[in-house]
Amino acid sequence: MDKKSVLIVEDEFIIANSIKMALQDMGYAVTAIVSSGRQAVELAQTGSPDVILMDILLKGRMDGIEAARMIREDYDIPIIFLTSHANESLLERAKLTEPFGYLLKPFQDKELQTNIEMALYRHDMENRLKELNRTLENRVKEETEISRQKDYLLIQQSKMASMGEMIVAIGHQWRQPLNAVALYVQDARDAFDSGELDKAYMSEMVEGTLRQVTFMSNTINDFTNFFRPSKKKTPFNINIAIKEVVNLVYDLFKKAGIEITFSCIYPEAVRKPCENQMKDICICEPGLIVEGFKNEFKQVILNILCNARDVVIGHKDMGFISEGEISVELSKLAGMVKIEIKDNGGGIPAEFIDKLFEPYFTTKGAKGTGIGLYMSKVIIESNMGGRIYAVNGEKGAVFTIELNRFNG
Ligand SMILES: Nc1ncnc2c1ncn2[C@@H]1O[C@H](COP(=O)(O)OP(=O)(O)OP(=O)(O)O)[C@@H](O)[C@H]1O
Ligand SMILES: [Mg+2]
Repeated sequence: MDKKSVLIVEDEFIIANSIKMALQDMGYAVTAIVSSGRQAVELAQTGSPDVILMDILLKGRMDGIEAARMIREDYDIPIIFLTSHANESLLERAKLTEPFGYLLKPFQDKELQTNIEMALYRHDMENRLKELNRTLENRVKEETEISRQKDYLLIQQSKMASMGEMIVAIGHQWRQPLNAVALYVQDARDAFDSGELDKAYMSEMVEGTLRQVTFMSNTINDFTNFFRPSKKKTPFNINIAIKEVVNLVYDLFKKAGIEITFSCIYPEAVRKPCENQMKDICICEPGLIVEGFKNEFKQVILNILCNARDVVIGHKDMGFISEGEISVELSKLAGMVKIEIKDNGGGIPAEFIDKLFEPYFTTKGAKGTGIGLYMSKVIIESNMGGRIYAVNGEKGAVFTIELNRFNG
């Protein structure tokens, strides 16, 4: 094994030499003997000793404590102070440099050796601990990054699944207005052939067509950004966000025999006149504002509605109910909003109720991925600081989302 090396900083030549000899007898190598603080700092760098014995009172302007402070800042070398006076204020100053030992002159060789060995041991342990901490920190960082990536992938994967739902819904929403536009165009040709196409006829036709096209364009607009991850939290009107999702699936659910209702149950809420043919789901005002990721929030609502639809259809097919019902209720609590989505699909079997939000938990076999609710939990709880949970109600499941209200 290599000899451990010691730098001696001592301005009294005779003492320095006797320490040197004692050290050599004990099996250490002495890199140098220096007598000033400045030289000590230099030698700490060039000689890279394993340990430094530092006298406190030295020649020159820099004393041993100041030299120790400078060495400590730049190099990782344990220092043991040597002094003839146990002066209180000196001790206090010395403590600040976190020395590895403190020897009062005159000292025995054995004391010197013990101090050096302890210093080397403690230094080694401290370095190992530092290394361990560093490795641990890196591991934590790596693991956090992996789990962040995993969540991101899951969210994207789940968005792809919702994309299927949405394309079907948008396709359905478009069919009717598209037919209407086709009829207007056909009618225009017939009117022209029969000479009925006057100015009034023409403007009625243009208005009618534009109405249909606006509806189609709104349907698309509501979801244009849906697949783009929201970059930062922004305040948004939760009533509008919910309405946009309900609007999209309303017709399709109705066709499957399910009626969705959306109600605001806070005293000041007033229903706004409906702008389009979807009378049952026109919005109420004033809207409640929350802060977060609107697109992701809409995806959560879509997930819960589609889950409810699947269960309700199953329940209906088995003859337990004749009409499917899904209600979305928005209420206002102190500083918060609460959204309850209830269905009449018969509820969640008791053995599954604790598992719903786990990744990959599904009862739909190959038809489900089981990430819809897990992802919803990540969005609501980790990303938006809210809460999402499910219980069984009278006729079926009740999914509740609670979010802080924005008061900016
Ligand atoms: N309204 C509900 N009533 C009863 N059970 C429900 C309801 N919503 C969800 N579940 C149960 O929770 C499970 C997990 O739902 P989740 O949305 O995470 O996945 P999934 O719907 O099975 O699959 P995916 O959403 O990927 O298509 C469902 O398989 C279903 O068993
Ligand atoms: Mg689902």
